[in-house]
Amino acid sequence: MSVTILGIESSCDDTSAAVICDGRLLSNVIASQSVHEEYGGVVPELASRAHQQNIVPVVDTALKRAGITKTDLSAIAFTLGPGLLGSLLVGTSFAKGLSLGLRIPIIDVNHLHGHVLSHFVRENDDDEVPAFPYLCLLISGGNSQLILVKDFGDMEVLGQTIDDAAGEAFDKCAKVMGLPYPGGPHIDRLAAEGNPKAFHFAKPHIDGLNYSFSGLKTSFLYTLRDNLKVNPDFIEQNKADLAASLQRTIIEILLDKLDAAVKLTRVKTVAIGGGVSANSGVRQAVADYCERRHIKAFIPKRAFTTDNAAMVAIAGYYKYLNNDFCPYDKVPYARVTI
Ligand code: KG4
Repeated sequence: MSVTILGIESSCDDTSAAVICDGRLLSNVIASQSVHEEYGGVVPELASRAHQQNIVPVVDTALKRAGITKTDLSAIAFTLGPGLLGSLLVGTSFAKGLSLGLRIPIIDVNHLHGHVLSHFVRENDDDEVPAFPYLCLLISGGNSQLILVKDFGDMEVLGQTIDDAAGEAFDKCAKVMGLPYPGGPHIDRLAAEGNPKAFHFAKPHIDGLNYSFSGLKTSFLYTLRDNLKVNPDFIEQNKADLAASLQRTIIEILLDKLDAAVKLTRVKTVAIGGGVSANSGVRQAVADYCERRHIKAFIPKRAFTTDNAAMVAIAGYYKYLNNDFCPYDKVPYARVTI
């Protein structure tokens, strides 16, 4: 009998629902929230309210696009955490209510597991998926982690940021350049036209496989401050070079530790995930690195880099196969690691 999972993701500012049947994606619907743009960041209370408005139509559309009805579902997988508590509560409560109504089980998914396992979402039957063990570089607005993935539920964090995440480095530097939030995609766009060697920013010296991005941010700020003193139009005149140099430095920091982790673990497969894995420079650099070292690279489609329910549904699918279900008294959590 086939296994059909509805996935629900509501951990931050995207309401998403997806349907996966026997590991194959049938639909993936995402409603993004534009309400936060004017505040320069996600406003938690506004996010929860928008989730409440979006969740029913988003789930309904996902079922319709998948060509199924709710009675075809085997189970409902949902993000229990980490994320914004109010936002998580909307997805969690909806999943619990629907499961009680349909008399089918619920499966809680760790959002980070979802990102790591997003490479198992197959859009076609012959899509290739990673072989265990593999190394996942998880880079988003809240995380920068190097994870050794030994099995669907067996992951070891080898290193992570001790301060800012890679996405925060993009966003905070973009903010001081006057770019809209989130700044990562804007830096990516500008960097394509700039000289990546025009400016040199500080790089961290951290032992082991941990990351640090706050020193780079400070160094970027000092460069702007010193130059603005003598040229008030400095940012405007140099924005492509600033973006390209910032992006190059972030990529070098990411790749340094990725290389150390590959040498330590001797894995033959590397995957990237999370919002920052949408960055053109990061994608190219990881692909080039893997080619040089004869390592298989899994670079997600851009649709699967940001928060989406397809990754929640696939993580839930493998828990379903393990009979790993969620009791109804489990509540969302704001913070957790792998
Ligand atoms: O995984 P994600 O959607 O959610 C959070 O962790 O919040 O990641 C969002 C992050 C933001 O920092 C955003 O600026 C960054 O991903 N991002 C990018 C690009 N697209 C999204 N950073 C650099 N280049 C991009 N093209």
